[in-house]
Amino acid sequence: MQPNKTAIRGALLTFQKDPFFHPMEECLIYKEDAIIVMENGKISAVDDADKLLPTLNDLPIERYTDSIITAGFIDSHVHYPQTEIIASYGEQLIDWLNNYTFIAEQGFKDKDHAKEVAEIFLKEQHRNGVTSSTVFCTIFPQSVDAIFEEAEKYNMRIMAGKVCMDRNAPEALLDTPQKAYDESKALIEKWHKKGRAEYVITPRFIPTSTHEQLEMVGSLAQEFPDTLIQSHVSENIGEIAWVKELFPEALDYTDAYDRYGLLRERAIYGHGVHLTDRELHVLNERGAAVAHCPTSNFFLGSGAFNVNHAKANNRPIKVGLGTDLGAGTSFSILQTMNEAYKAAQMNGSPYSALHTFYLATRGTAEALSLQDKVGTVAVGMEADLAIINLKSTPIIDYRMRYANSLEEALFIQMTLGDDRAISATYIAGNKIYSK
Ligand code: GUN
Ligand code: ZN
Repeated sequence: MQPNKTAIRGALLTFQKDPFFHPMEECLIYKEDAIIVMENGKISAVDDADKLLPTLNDLPIERYTDSIITAGFIDSHVHYPQTEIIASYGEQLIDWLNNYTFIAEQGFKDKDHAKEVAEIFLKEQHRNGVTSSTVFCTIFPQSVDAIFEEAEKYNMRIMAGKVCMDRNAPEALLDTPQKAYDESKALIEKWHKKGRAEYVITPRFIPTSTHEQLEMVGSLAQEFPDTLIQSHVSENIGEIAWVKELFPEALDYTDAYDRYGLLRERAIYGHGVHLTDRELHVLNERGAAVAHCPTSNFFLGSGAFNVNHAKANNRPIKVGLGTDLGAGTSFSILQTMNEAYKAAQMNGSPYSALHTFYLATRGTAEALSLQDKVGTVAVGMEADLAIINLKSTPIIDYRMRYANSLEEALFIQMTLGDDRAISATYIAGNKIYSK
């Protein structure tokens, strides 16, 4: 057990508003020398060191020099059962699912296997400063238990759900509309709001759910209006054509979910690379979010989601960042930010390093309606923090000598940094990882 009250000191970077819509000076909080006090899992004080020091008596303070303290990173879209197939060569989405994913996921019928992978997966997230994530499991309820049980050991804010699929997958990975409803409901009753756990209703995507299943899942969502919902939308051109064939009466991919009440606040859809303006309007009206997963989109050849376009003033969409492992190629949110910049360049519409750090923390918290709990370093928020070492490799150390602004320093970190840059990770006030 670590002591109940602890404090850390260093440069602090955090956001209190969305800089895509407000002037940066209203959004950014940057303090060169700050102290953060953590008590009972929450932040009880944050301020400039010279102001807080006289109030702290003999409380020991851990100091992080040449570092930045940020809110812990949040991964808004990730498949833990795909940990064993990261870096599988050569296919685009549908073939990749059939040839790799649907084989690996069958192994999660075995609870011991699921527990082993969940442990490796969470440890790897912590090495990368990820303190919270929204996770796809498999159709097997025991695979959901495994990740919640493992996260509970760290008191980690985790959101996860049983994948629902009743067509277009191997027999061993299919449930039925009723089974999807019953098993998901039992898991909601077991895990939703237990400690820091929350349940996510998880129809995989339109091609793997019949209308009957979507209807059952929609009624479950209505019955439990404060759960999250997650799925995939408009990721890949071939997939979109298939959805059109399977669901000719829907106006488009987004409409196929909308018909079953699956778009709402706290519903988050992976990718959205090819969403039309009509679909963006519907997502805005319903308050649903998109999880931007650039390493995955490049890896599967899906395309480049346009964040600035999604955040257009007349119909803004909430956007979170996600790794989408195992189609995503890195657990590192810094590397995900690096690829997000390249996706923005492909769209001719880049945004700054400060905007990107916002997306990886408070932006993702807002996409999940968690901004009152995590994503910002402020009094009353849960004490989930990541410490970035600004000189983690020889080349980063060298390049930083030529950084003339905070913005430039952050851009160097997100372009060149990875797991080596994370020197410590705090969850609910406990240091659960350090180098
Ligand atoms: N669409 C449906 N399932 C998946 C998945 O597991 N990964 C990705 N990237 N897209 C999907
Ligand atoms: Zn995914």
